Amino acid sequence: MDRNLVLNLGRVTEAAALACAKYLGKGDKNMADQAAVDGMRRMFDTLDIDGVVVIGEGEMDEAPMLYIGEKIGRAGADDLKVDIAVDPVDGTTSVANGLPNAISVVAVAPRGCLLHAPDTYMKKIAVGPRAKGVIDIHKSASENIRNVAEALGKSLDEITVEVLDRPRHDELIKEIRATGARIKLVSDGDVLSAISTCFEYTGVDITMGIGGAPEGVITAVALKCLGGDFQGILAPANEEHRARCIEMGAELDRVYYLDDLAKGNKLSFAATGVSYGELLDGVKYMKDNTASTHTLILRSETGTIRFIKSIHKLDKKPDYAK
Ligand code: FBP
Repeated sequence: MDRNLVLNLGRVTEAAALACAKYLGKGDKNMADQAAVDGMRRMFDTLDIDGVVVIGEGEMDEAPMLYIGEKIGRAGADDLKVDIAVDPVDGTTSVANGLPNAISVVAVAPRGCLLHAPDTYMKKIAVGPRAKGVIDIHKSASENIRNVAEALGKSLDEITVEVLDRPRHDELIKEIRATGARIKLVSDGDVLSAISTCFEYTGVDITMGIGGAPEGVITAVALKCLGGDFQGILAPANEEHRARCIEMGAELDRVYYLDDLAKGNKLSFAATGVSYGELLDGVKYMKDNTASTHTLILRSETGTIRFIKSIHKLDKKPDYAK
C-alpha cells in the first residue's frame, strides 16, 4: 500500500472535522453530519485511488454521498484498488450537544479486505496490545476483566472499563461494578473508546458493550495497526436487522476476530478529533481565521503511530471558512 496514502487519509479526516466542528453545540446533528460528509467527499476527490465505499453513510437510495458502493478517488488504470470504510463523524449527537470524543474517521484496505458489515449492532470487546490474546467474548464480562487485569499486572480496582451509556448496558454495568473495576461511561463514540485501550495515558483498559457493527470494522483496522485485540458478535436489535444480516450473508452466532473484519497487513487508518477528547484534541478556532486539528494516522505494515497537529489558514481554504 502506498505509504503516502495514509498521510492523505489524514487530510480527508481533517477536512471532515474542520467542516463539521462549526456545528459544535448547535443542536443539529444532521447539519453536523452533512458538513462532515461534504468535507470528506471533497477531499477524497483529490486522491489517486480506485476506491469503493464498503462502510459508509447508508445505501445509495438513502445517502447521496459516501453511500455503500460509491466509487471514490481519481481512479487511473494504475491506481490502488481499495475498500474504504468511513464514518465522517463518529459521535454526531456529541457534536450537536457540544460533548467530547467526536471524531472523523476513515479506514482503507486493499479491495476485498474489509468485511461488508450490515447496518446493525455488534457486541464488542477491545483491549490494547498488553492484553492481546486474553479476551474471549463468549466468557462473562467479569472473567474477561479478571484475565485482562492479570495480563496488565493490575488489581481489579485499577482496571477501567469504558462502556457506552445506554440502558441496554445496565446489566453489564452492574456486573462490571461487582468485580470492583472502575467504569467510564461515554455518551457516544465506541471507535475512539476502543482505540483508547491502546494508549496507556488515556486510562482505559477495556471497552465492552454493544455498538454499531460498521464501527466494529473501522475499529478492527485501527486495533490491527496498533497491535490491540478485538472481538465482535452481530447483535441485531430486531427482526428487520436480523433479516438484513442474513440477506448480506453475515453469520449471526459467529465471533468476528480482527482478521475476519480487516484482512491482511496493508491497512491504513486516520482519525481527526472534532470535539475534545483524551486522545485527540478537537478542532480549535483561533485568531486570524485559523483553526487547529489533531489527527491520528496508522499504518499496519510498519505499525507507525503518527499524531499530526495542523494549523489551517481558512482564508486559503474557503470551503471551511467560518
Ligand atoms: P453516530 O455518530 O454515527 O450516531 O455513532 C455514534 C455511536 O455512539 C457509535 O460510536 C456507536 O457504535 C453507535 O453510535 C451506537 O449506537 P446507538 O447510538 O444506537 O446506541
